[in-house]
Order: sequence, then C-alpha cells, then structure tokens
Amino acid sequence: MEKKKMILDLDTGIDDALAIAYAAGRTDIELLGITSVFGNVTADRAAENSLDILALLGREDVPVYQGEGAPLGEETYAPAAISRQIHGENGVGEIRLAPSGRKTETESGVDFLIRSIMTLGKELTIVATGPLTNLAAVFRRCPQAAGQLGKLVIMGGAVTVPGNVCPWAEANILGDPAAAKTVFESGADIVLVGLDVTMRTLLTRKETAQMRAWGTETGEKLADMTEFYLKAYERLAPWMGGCAIHDPLAVGIAADPSLAETFSTYLTAETEGPLRGRTIGRQELLRTPGGNTAVCLNVDAERYLKGFMEAVGRSAKAPEMNGPERGADAGAPAEGSAGKDNL
Ligand code: RIB
Ligand code: CA
Repeated sequence: MEKKKMILDLDTGIDDALAIAYAAGRTDIELLGITSVFGNVTADRAAENSLDILALLGREDVPVYQGEGAPLGEETYAPAAISRQIHGENGVGEIRLAPSGRKTETESGVDFLIRSIMTLGKELTIVATGPLTNLAAVFRRCPQAAGQLGKLVIMGGAVTVPGNVCPWAEANILGDPAAAKTVFESGADIVLVGLDVTMRTLLTRKETAQMRAWGTETGEKLADMTEFYLKAYERLAPWMGGCAIHDPLAVGIAADPSLAETFSTYLTAETEGPLRGRTIGRQELLRTPGGNTAVCLNVDAERYLKGFMEAVGRSAKAPEMNGPERGADAGAPAEGSAGKDNL
C-alpha cells in the first residue's frame, strides 16, 4: 500500500498530541515531520510537546521544526486563559511527560515546509491544526508553492455552526485571521475540517478506559491527557457529553477523504471589524464555478472513532515496536478503506 506523505503543523495541545498518536498509528501515513506554531501554547512549548509525545510513542525518527511564534505582524504571543483551561499550562493537561532529550532541527519550520513542497509537490499533504501563520509565511515567501502542494487539510473555522471562541469564530482562525485569509486566497487545494464536523466526533470516559486497558505507560498518559481535556469540556460545554476530537479528524480526513461529505466554495476569513475571524465564502466569486476549499459538512463519526481508537491503540500498545516501517508489518487494514472518495 502506498502511504500518504504527510507533515503536521501543530500548536501542540491535547488534541494535537492525539493527532500525532493517530497519524503515527495509521498504516497508510508516512509522517515526514512536524512543524510547531503558537496557539494552545507558545511555539517553543508546542515543539517540545511534539518531541515528548513522539518519544512516548517510540517515534523519535520524526523530525520536529520550530515555526512562527506570533501572529503575522506581531512580536510576541501568550496563550489565552481559555487555552490554559482546556489544554493546561503545559499544553498536555499538566501531565508530566519524560523529556525526549531531542532538539528541534536547525532548519526553520517555514524553510522545511517550502523545501518539502518544492521537492514532493502533489505527493505531499500538509495537515494544519493551529493558527495558519507558518503556511501564510510559506505562501507569502514562495507564492508558487500553493499550486505545487498536493492537499492542505486545515482544522479550523466554523461555516455552518457557531464558533468556539465567540459566536462566529473558531480558535485557530481567530488566532491569526490575516494568515488564514492569505492561506485561503493562496490558490492551494484546501480541505476545511471545521467545527461543522469536529463537534460531531467525541471522546468519552469509555475511550479513556479503553486506553488504560492497553496496559502501557503510553496508553495511561494519553488517557490522563484526554481526561484533563474531558473535564474542561464538562465545565465549559456540559451539553456535549464528551470532548471534541478536532485535530485528529483533520488527519483522518487527509488520509481517508471518504470519511467526510464536502461542499466546494471560495473561502476566506474576515480580518477586520466585528466579524473578525469568521470563515465565509468570497462574495466576488459567488458566480464563479468550483471553489478552492472543500468544506467538510458531514462526517462518518462512528467509522472515524473506530479507526481512531484502532490506530492510537496500535501506537500505544507496543511503542517500542514503532518506527517508520511499522505500517508495513502488522498486516492491519488501512483505516476506512471503504466508501466513496468525495473530496
Ligand atoms: O478550535 C479547536 C482548535 O483549537 C484545535 O486545533 C485545538 O487544538 C485548538 O488549537
Ligand atoms: Ca490545535
């Protein structure tokens, strides 16, 4: 089976960490690297969290690159109080992870992304699950990269449902609306995995019990982190009955587009005024056929959750056996290999 070459661009909080575990455990993904960005935590902390999570998963073969530390045009960044409540001060639910001992690569995240796009072109998928500042820097410096890249799958935005920071804006887009606008209008082939679908996919204590039943330290740590996240949801959105598995869903749909139903449009983000951070169709292109963004509007939540737990379990049950070749051995079926490709 040909694996999808993938780079993850993460503001590594709890659901980003779960996205790493899920990508590492899928047999159809070749994880080429991780870039960090500010968001749930600072970009430095996001990089450190990614390194430590990769160590926990036995995936020290995956390089981590330092990305942009603040929104476009700004010098500094400090995580908002709400991020600290949801992901903890350290971004991973105050869980102590053994320090990986590895450092980030000397090449910057933006340089790595440009180099990878220019080398791999359409073979490459980038999954971005934090503010879009790294990608905006890539397309501003190298506009032709947008047309060369395979797919850009973004966890962000809320097109048909309310936002999660305010009624019209989702956190990753509001984190840097100018960057989001640059990325949406870059000409890249984009899939938007927004709150429209991520809020329909939930983890509960049933899944954390399953993680603990794997009987490994990795399973315990992932369960501890997820329960911190669950408690935040219980306080902030008790009506949901679980916590949304936002970032892993972007990985899942990137690997298996048949998980989602989409609607194509020319998307952008509001950068000014009272609706700053809203994701919305471009009015001037309403009569232009097609679109640059496939907005996910529906998801097969049951199949996604099943595949998620299988893949994370594969990562967590025997981390000492993990490595870039793992997918080739176990004979495990690729998650969600059935269904129609509707992206
Ligand atoms: O709105 C959800 C997103 O914001 C997720 O990517 C989460 O990790 C935070 O960054
Ligand atoms: Ca994130």
